[in-house]
Amino acid sequence: MNATTPPPVPDYGAPAPIPATQLLTPAQVEFFHAHGYLAVDRVMPLDEIPRVRAVYDRLFNEDRSRTEGDLYNLTGTKEQGRREAVAQILQPGKYAPELLVTQLVANVKAMMQQLLGPECRMVGDHAINKPPRNAAATPWHQDEAYWNPAKEYSGLSVWVPLQPATKLNGCMYFVPGSHRLEVIPHQPIGNDPKVPGLEVVPGAFDFGSAVACELPAGGATFHLERTLHYTPSNQSDDYRRAYIIVGTRYERPRAVPRRFEWQERQAAARR
Ligand code: NI
Repeated sequence: MNATTPPPVPDYGAPAPIPATQLLTPAQVEFFHAHGYLAVDRVMPLDEIPRVRAVYDRLFNEDRSRTEGDLYNLTGTKEQGRREAVAQILQPGKYAPELLVTQLVANVKAMMQQLLGPECRMVGDHAINKPPRNAAATPWHQDEAYWNPAKEYSGLSVWVPLQPATKLNGCMYFVPGSHRLEVIPHQPIGNDPKVPGLEVVPGAFDFGSAVACELPAGGATFHLERTLHYTPSNQSDDYRRAYIIVGTRYERPRAVPRRFEWQERQAAARR
């Protein structure tokens, strides 16, 4: 058990306290709906990047004892006293509310509403930190495979690299048009149900049409809940820091129930 009580979940959906300074163009909105993803070179002021990065690094280092309850090894099992192959923090805004009053978040909230309409609200954030010279990729998946199978969703994720994102350090790759698929079969990474991360069952899909989205620091990719995506391993000499913002237009009970047996296997392994 963690000695410290985790802080309460912040009101992610609250209106941004500062106005947006950047918006998407109509052509970008159109591209997103046609292909299920979008890459944008800049969503935050350049001078904000080092400030956000300093908060981010603090959460993964000095603040580890505070964030422990929400700190996971995305691509492997969690082991006491061992650094994660790919560390992720769920809801970093809980531990660093200053992340939520940035121009970054104000701009992304406005952009998410351009893409999915005024009902779209930020519902959470997430941080994935890949160490330098690290072999672990984040394998192909659809975000909806992680979510509650009893519900249907309309939502998107916004992935913001805090240093340039390149093929070498693990930028985002997407399969254009894959947002029109159903949720395809997934399994826990490496088929080990103790691993929290998921991957498309090997051989279940041909990823030959995937595109890489290299970005400058402070750019972003946007993708829908079923768009297939992946990031390769980080072969650079620096951390590959990504801050992720999740937005939802609606989530509601599904008319036709379904099961995600990969989640059931993970739940059984945790018990
Ligand atoms: Ni994802």
